[in-house]
Amino acid sequence: MNDVMAATGFDVARIREDFPILRQTVRGKKLVFLDSAASAQKPRPVIDAMVQAMETQYANVHRGLHWMSERTTEAYEAARDAVAGLLNARERAEIVFTGSVTGSLNLMAHSYGRGVLKPGQAVLISAMEHHSNIVPWQMLRDERGIELRVCPISDAGELDMAAFEALLADGKVGLVSITHMSNVLGTYTPAERIVALAHAHGAKVLFDGAQAVVHRKVDVQALGCDFYAFTGHKLYGPTGIGVLWGRRELLEAMPPFMGGGDMISSVTYERSTWAQVPHKFEAGTPPILEGIGLRAAVDYVQAIGYPAIAAHEAALTEHALARMSAIEGVHVIGRAQDRGGVVSFTLDRAHPHDVATLLDRQGIAVRAGHHCAEPLMHRLGLESTARASFGIYTTTEEIDVLADTLTRVREFFA
Ligand code: ALA
Repeated sequence: MNDVMAATGFDVARIREDFPILRQTVRGKKLVFLDSAASAQKPRPVIDAMVQAMETQYANVHRGLHWMSERTTEAYEAARDAVAGLLNARERAEIVFTGSVTGSLNLMAHSYGRGVLKPGQAVLISAMEHHSNIVPWQMLRDERGIELRVCPISDAGELDMAAFEALLADGKVGLVSITHMSNVLGTYTPAERIVALAHAHGAKVLFDGAQAVVHRKVDVQALGCDFYAFTGHKLYGPTGIGVLWGRRELLEAMPPFMGGGDMISSVTYERSTWAQVPHKFEAGTPPILEGIGLRAAVDYVQAIGYPAIAAHEAALTEHALARMSAIEGVHVIGRAQDRGGVVSFTLDRAHPHDVATLLDRQGIAVRAGHHCAEPLMHRLGLESTARASFGIYTTTEEIDVLADTLTRVREFFA
């Protein structure tokens, strides 16, 4: 335990008690869950909030005049307030709920991309995006003639900032859409510098914060960005809910993405008019229970506090890098200076899927594959990696179990 964790009373054993799923054994072995970057486990307050809503307080929102609908609407809109607080948004109207971070990025590509960007402009991404921050922009490019530019990365897995600036130089980039933390390399991108350079060249900035918001405090005012997207299920909340934060005036200038109930002000066969933001972007019955669960997750994370979470995960990552780098034949992929609790690796003479399968036999859950980031794999000269990723409930002992087991797996392949 380091000073920050001690000062904040961070107690991982106590936190683990909140996650019932972690008590399980797998084939007689204690579960070692090291796949939180794919989806995090859920604490008791999230489970209880959703069950309680279903048992005592559930109806459709924004529609009914009856008390159950009103109370559920209040609970759902309170989730928006909680997320606004989490990100330090100026107001709840800047929080759009979607189905996932993929939903948020697609909303941006459809609405901002087709409604605000003009043919001849460009979108700038990086070479370490996952598919959700590549494919929607490719579709936009092919349909609307909006160029897609890709900023290269170094072998260490850091953004090439000289190239980044050069790619902005002609002033054609209308939007920079970039990860705040890589799901493969763990790299944090230099967010403030990205924003400063982009704004100096007339581009808006959207961060894909699906990984970053889990591990560090995100303050959109301090970052100075224009849009920020993340998903609930990696932040210890439920699946089925994502967030897009945007500056109000930018959201107001964007056309709706999906049409349907709730996003309209009035409808006739001749024409329809739109609701105010954020509802303009939320067609149909929204993720009500998921919103209630996300609020509980946000409250849970805030109660523990980002300084303690970040300190815990920094200590875990340092320990993991030291232990894994010491195993002959194991190669950690990505050596960024500023990085979070995601460690991708390969093992000589072994396919990552086989490594993951052998680890799984010992109760250790890691992800193996291209991690929905095929172009990044190609840049790294790899087909796939194995990946261990950490959460607030991960312990140093679990990292040791991984390293000890990897040593035995290595002997098997040697
Ligand atoms: N993007 C998620 C991951 O990194 C699914 O595993």
